[in-house]
Amino acid sequence: MCGIVGYVGPRDCTDVLISALAKLEYRGYDSAGIAVFENGKIEVAKSKGRLSDLVEKMEKEGKPQGHAGIGHTRWATHGEPSDINSHPHSGRRVTIVHNGIIENYKQIKQFLIDNERTEFLSDTDTEVVAQLLDFYYNGDPIRAIRRTLHEVRGSFALGIVFADRPETIYAVRRESPLIVGQGKGEAFIASDVPAILKYTKDYYLLEHNEIVILKNGSASFCTMHGRVIDKELKTADWDEDSAEKGGYPHFMIKEIHEQPTAVKMTVTPRIEDGLPDLSECGITPETLKDINNVFIVACGTAMHAGMVGKYVIEKLARVSVTVDIASEFRYRNPLIGKGDLVIIISQSGETADSKAVLRLVKETEAKTLAIVNVKGSSIAREADMVIYTHAGPEIAVASTKAYMVQLAVMYLFAFELAYAKGRIDEAKCRDLTDQLIKMPAIIEKTVNSVVDDCQYISTKLISTSSLLYIGRGLDYALSMEGSLKLKEISYIHSESYAAGELKHGTISLITEGMPVIAVATQNTLLEKTISNIEEVKARGAMTVVICDEEADIGEEAADYLIRIPKIAEMLMPMVATVPMQLLAYYTSVNKGNDVDRPRNLAKSVTVE
Ligand code: F6R
Repeated sequence: MCGIVGYVGPRDCTDVLISALAKLEYRGYDSAGIAVFENGKIEVAKSKGRLSDLVEKMEKEGKPQGHAGIGHTRWATHGEPSDINSHPHSGRRVTIVHNGIIENYKQIKQFLIDNERTEFLSDTDTEVVAQLLDFYYNGDPIRAIRRTLHEVRGSFALGIVFADRPETIYAVRRESPLIVGQGKGEAFIASDVPAILKYTKDYYLLEHNEIVILKNGSASFCTMHGRVIDKELKTADWDEDSAEKGGYPHFMIKEIHEQPTAVKMTVTPRIEDGLPDLSECGITPETLKDINNVFIVACGTAMHAGMVGKYVIEKLARVSVTVDIASEFRYRNPLIGKGDLVIIISQSGETADSKAVLRLVKETEAKTLAIVNVKGSSIAREADMVIYTHAGPEIAVASTKAYMVQLAVMYLFAFELAYAKGRIDEAKCRDLTDQLIKMPAIIEKTVNSVVDDCQYISTKLISTSSLLYIGRGLDYALSMEGSLKLKEISYIHSESYAAGELKHGTISLITEGMPVIAVATQNTLLEKTISNIEEVKARGAMTVVICDEEADIGEEAADYLIRIPKIAEMLMPMVATVPMQLLAYYTSVNKGNDVDRPRNLAKSVTVE
């Protein structure tokens, strides 16, 4: 998704904007641009392509020199990626960058045309906002912003400069994220904290419809009506290093290695005297006792974590769990109400469909719980209760450590719910919790023990155009994530199937050499999964089986066996995920793909 930055201070503004935008590359983008006050005039430079293309262009055509400006990475929604459609966009006296979508831009454009404003250069909704701001601008920036905010519908964060207000930046947000960094004698705006960490760890959160003004190196805040607001300065607990690759060739592999720490950081603070304690997140045994049904709603990988959660919660707590894709749930008029708990899982906390579900549920009597990684994100702030996962910034588009900590929270929640409802006794709850506490060391051991196998097996996958992941029960839930991970970064078509379903149609796809990866960590279902493996093998499939080190599977049962540490069956997903991530990673590397930034994908999907 688009990224916004802005800077006012003594440094070379263009350099700051480019380095801050580089930290937002993970969000995905197809063009970039900046607007800088140079000798009191706004100079714009923009280009389709990567930030390096913009830098190259500026080297040729001249780099804006100044100390205040705004910058943008665009992920095209209205109009193709092109130099013209890249931000910033300008009206006569106003230049803006924008993240989000203006839903009623066509009506606004018509209104402007009717009022003799016809000079539109691009296909974007953003340019319409720049023109509207300009239309309302009579020398009072706050008035122009207020009048514009009254007219526009949709989600947006805007960075704005007015030609006759040199060295000053205005910004405002509704729905889309925006933070304000405060350094010594310098101030920033950015879509996300990593953009400013090189310069400062201190930042403010901007709320809906609040306006920030950056001037003389500091930030001041006011409402749309110009009333001054005092805000609390926050300090980021991520340092710049944790947002960098730390010696690994890609963020994805770094983040796979960070999983033990992420799980530790997420689980440890939620254990009290050997038992799960989520009271700090607003969840107490009393609130849990009243829950009749659980709904887990999310998108992509986060939804897959919910699938694992369903098996575990239903098994332990005997509470019915429905897992749904957010973009489906919100349009199917769901039956929810008093006694229901709706859990929204989201790494970014800004995913448009998940956010919409949260708002829909908040209009009912159901309670909402957010499981979110990004602090202060919209979903985290708006839910009744929030459990933060502590994975730190996840930069690779393909989610790994965020999924792992989402699993950890699913377990913590299931244990506490089952105990609160009296479905498991204290001893059982202690035992399960103890096993969860031991997971970081086991995950670390797994990464080290399977990395070579995965690297080798991936060389056997690169030439296929299609493969299947299969599993039963928890292994089926897991295989969904394995399949998504592989397809999104290797570009190999991959599907996950409940192994028992193969015979009902899908097995006809099996041809000589087609890879089938079976996840077989649930010993109670092992024999049945082995039969399915034999069936596909007999039809020529190249088989890979992920099973525990003691599983009763002979070496001849599959072409490749990946053995992982044996732990309690219910917790196996946290171990079995690792080889699936590594298979996806090395397949992508071996194919020469852009591992961290797969094509057509964005890290934070803030539009529907
Ligand atoms: C895949 C991936 C996506 C996200 C999905 C939801 O690797 O990361 O499928 O899980 O876009 O994003 P969040 O969790 O930010 O709501």
